[in-house]
Amino acid sequence: MRSPLTGGRGGGEFSGGRGGRGGSSGGRGRGFGDRGRGRGMRGRGRGEPGRGRGAPGRGGMKGGSKVIVEPHRHAGVFIAKSKEDALVTKNLVPGEAVYNEKRISVQNEDGTKTEYRVWNPFRSKLAAAILGGVDNIYIKPGAKVLYLGAASGTTVSHVSDIVGPEGCVYAVEFSHRSGRDLVNMAKKRTNVIPIIEDARHPTKYRMLVGMVDVIFADVAQPDQARIVALNANFFLKTGGHFVISIKANCIDSTVPAEAVFQSEVKKLQQEQFKPAEQVTLEPFERDHACVVGTYRAPKKVKAATAA
Ligand SMILES: C[S@@+](CC[C@H](N)C(=O)[O-])C[C@H]1O[C@@H](n2cnc3c(N)ncnc32)[C@H](O)[C@@H]1O
Repeated sequence: MRSPLTGGRGGGEFSGGRGGRGGSSGGRGRGFGDRGRGRGMRGRGRGEPGRGRGAPGRGGMKGGSKVIVEPHRHAGVFIAKSKEDALVTKNLVPGEAVYNEKRISVQNEDGTKTEYRVWNPFRSKLAAAILGGVDNIYIKPGAKVLYLGAASGTTVSHVSDIVGPEGCVYAVEFSHRSGRDLVNMAKKRTNVIPIIEDARHPTKYRMLVGMVDVIFADVAQPDQARIVALNANFFLKTGGHFVISIKANCIDSTVPAEAVFQSEVKKLQQEQFKPAEQVTLEPFERDHACVVGTYRAPKKVKAATAA
């Protein structure tokens, strides 16, 4: 069921952007069953927002402008409100940027400060899916996440912020070049365990990875569904969740993107995954979708009939 806090289509804004793109978000979501359109950047009012000023840095909010930070409806994700809104995460390692992203320091009521890092949806499919209105990401404080296709760790670092010190991110990347940055990032972020291996061979890292709550996959490979299934079989707990970014033309560039998404959903269904929702990543990524659901969903028990 959709939460009653539903907005309409995504209507949040993101300042900064990449390669000249920018402006308002508004990815249209398409769900399964009773699901409809995606949502925009909406926060759930929980507690008093902090106020602060942008710390020096690049991209995101204009430096020096007054910023209010509010919790997003996804736990561990926040919205920094200024002239333009930006998605942010609470920096696990205050004082440190990971990829030269902008940081915002906010003064709390008790005089302490909290630092947030701006999360650019043009550089992260997970951020794009959140702005596209995905209902659930299951990546939340304390969660254990297996992240396939970690690259240099841009998104991994935000997942590390979200899961926090009680959570853990096993980050798998097979490119040694990207892996170098990933390993360096993990030196300071102790909840990130970098694994420089091919995600097609989970036996190679089975000794490093425990059971996880969520698998996030962004490997952009034609056999992504199979790769996710292999890893789920080893590491994803029964009733755990998956979040998959699908890049249509990596799978089949000869058919429309929507047909690719449908066939990927079918493949997932054949592998004991139960997709629950799908959002496109427009306007941040063209012909990409994010599919979210449950693994080995417990069967519904039929209500006992009255005697
Ligand atoms: C689209 S990029 C991921 C971007 C990253 N998720 C982010 O948001 O920062 C895909 C990454 O998956 C990695 N990859 C592709 N196939 C893989 C495999 N079989 N095992 C591990 N990594 C793989 C690529 O090297 C590349 O870095």
